[in-house]
Amino acid sequence: MPTKIILDCDPGHDDAIALLLAHGSPDVELVAVTTVAGNQTLEKVTRNALAVAQIAGIVDVPFAAGCARPLVRRLSVADDIHGESGMDGPQLPDSTITVDPRHAVDLIVDTVMAYPEGTITLVPTGPLTNIALAARKEPRIVERVREVVLMGGGYHAGNWSATSEFNIAIDPEAAHIVFNEPWQVTMCGLDVTHQAVATDAVIQRVSDLGTAPAAFVTELLQFFKQSYLDVQGFTAPPVHDPVAVARVIDPTIVRTVPVPIDVELGGSLTLGMTVTDFRFPRPSDSHTHAAVELDHARFWDLIVAALERIGDPATGGAAV
Ligand code: BDR
Ligand code: CA
Repeated sequence: MPTKIILDCDPGHDDAIALLLAHGSPDVELVAVTTVAGNQTLEKVTRNALAVAQIAGIVDVPFAAGCARPLVRRLSVADDIHGESGMDGPQLPDSTITVDPRHAVDLIVDTVMAYPEGTITLVPTGPLTNIALAARKEPRIVERVREVVLMGGGYHAGNWSATSEFNIAIDPEAAHIVFNEPWQVTMCGLDVTHQAVATDAVIQRVSDLGTAPAAFVTELLQFFKQSYLDVQGFTAPPVHDPVAVARVIDPTIVRTVPVPIDVELGGSLTLGMTVTDFRFPRPSDSHTHAAVELDHARFWDLIVAALERIGDPATGGAAV
């Protein structure tokens, strides 16, 4: 039985690839896609999510727009990395797919409550505003969700500040709520996502598939490569968000350890830091888990295989 997931995202080059990985994998079933302001404004990231759905032929999955700003702070976007559209590089098609009329928070709550307890996995790959509000609006979702597997944070280094990663730093109050509710939370942070680099060999493998979705991903990765070189000095770009989806698909690809993790809200230099306590003895009942190691080869194999399965929905063609 595939694991049912809700992808809560802010596309975003890597969010788009996370969405394609989820759609093209037989081991997960996308039951909803929700958007949140982060990499760009809510309007732009929602448009981008629908464009990806159009390219990949994702029909019969509700897409809903959520929060347009963080709980407390003003929105800052990552246009240095993702560009003016939030997904610069490829030409974005107009989508014929319409957005669900519900607010994302309501779609998350409705979906989690509609399925049996322990069924739905939440996979947030943007700021945690929608997820935090959903937990506050309907607290029963906390015990009903199977687990939360998120891209965000890290125990080693930041990218938005010296200590803090973008998704957490943009809405630290929301992240504080999510990490402190008693559900299972797996943090796929920069420690592992900086291992998820798209080397030239990886980009070539994707390009060689020869389909329209693969060409789209190739252009995303080419833009991402240049951004990450210019802005953060990476020679190959880290493709963060699909790591969380990969962890759900095959936990052996992303090794985790149970450790207490909390989110700094008071620090003047460390706001949004995911403070991870590796001290001995480790508590046996930690509900938070930190990803510590990624199998790079098998991670990219999953993404290439997903794109192969997606094929060319517009023409009905297969990957070469
Ligand atoms: C995270 O921030 C965003 O720019 C990416 O989409 C990813 O979710 C990495 O820090
Ligand atoms: Ca993201």
